[in-house]
Amino acid sequence: ASLAGRNTLRVDARAHWLLELLDAARLPEVLALPAIAQSPLLVLGEGSNVLFAGDVDGAVLTMATRGVLVEEDGDVARIAVAAGERWDDFVRWSLSQGFAGLENLILIPGTVGAAPIQNIGAYGVEVAEFIEAVEAWDRTTKQVVSLDKAACAFAYRDSLFKREPDRYIVTAVRFALPRQRELRLDYAGIGDQLKRMGIATPTPFHVAEAVVHLRTRKLPDPAVIGNAGSFFKNPLVDAETAAALQREYPDMPQWPTPDGGCKLSAAWLIETCGFKGLREGDAGISNRHALVLVNHGRARGDQLWALAQEVRRGVQARFGILLQPEPKVIGASIDA
Ligand code: EPU
Repeated sequence: ASLAGRNTLRVDARAHWLLELLDAARLPEVLALPAIAQSPLLVLGEGSNVLFAGDVDGAVLTMATRGVLVEEDGDVARIAVAAGERWDDFVRWSLSQGFAGLENLILIPGTVGAAPIQNIGAYGVEVAEFIEAVEAWDRTTKQVVSLDKAACAFAYRDSLFKREPDRYIVTAVRFALPRQRELRLDYAGIGDQLKRMGIATPTPFHVAEAVVHLRTRKLPDPAVIGNAGSFFKNPLVDAETAAALQREYPDMPQWPTPDGGCKLSAAWLIETCGFKGLREGDAGISNRHALVLVNHGRARGDQLWALAQEVRRGVQARFGILLQPEPKVIGASIDA
């Protein structure tokens, strides 16, 4: 089966089997099917955070389960959401219901079930802040588990689900969303954007609108040109490394982290190496944002990965930092 329409980088990779799951309760039964039980399994949401560098050796399971249930309402609402719901639809629904918190995370592609896996984040907010528990099928113990926030071990673009990649299949996410919350406007750009919009006392809706403006200005739309958002994580380095780099490159952006280290801007490192807008065949680095790998048309997955590797090697040679891919890369080793 072709996966071309199932990944936002629009790579025409193949899988032996393609299954779409509409009912989470039938997961054990599906996983027990001989063809599935005996081959590797890749779980996919909207395919907005994956690069198929090669074909999939085995089956692909798409989570297409639906449902949003408000289990408790009050100052804080408890809401259970099926893994297959679209993240952006859920954000917009939550705002329309008067819940606050997710406004900074509007317009992120992908599904609700994928959100905790890489702990999606943007504009100073990470989804982990609003997650109470993640419901999953544990493929090791073969049972349904409910993992509370601590068990999920959330960190910057990281979680238990990334560290134990083939163990859990996320079936639903439980959120706790407040009715009232201090708005998060400290992230560069939001305050200025609100000013440009003439908003003095912003509501969550205004913040969402500001984020939509910022994202559409900076990030290429996957509906127009194939991409998977940021292709690399912003590297975390210790204080000494950060200070040494700052001496050599005084205008390098750096953000201190709570553990005393620093987060660097992968986009800046890439742009400084001259890779922004680079194109080899149909594989490219966006000319709008240096962190975005784009498919100009018919690039194959191995061509996109080769370009990403060229960028990694260039950044490593100049700055001594090996960038790590943010999306899941299938069919290639990422250590090299
Ligand atoms: N910059 C460049 N060149 C560029 C773009 C950016 O030098 O082409 C520098 C600028 O100095 C800018 C800084 O990078 O101030 C930060 O850029 P931006 O605000 O766009 O954020 P980012 O660190 O590149 C991260 C997330 C994005 C998220 C934005 C906004 C990661 C890997 N990416 O990008 O998330 O939308 O912050 O909060 O953490 C994603 O994960 O797919 C994604 C798009």
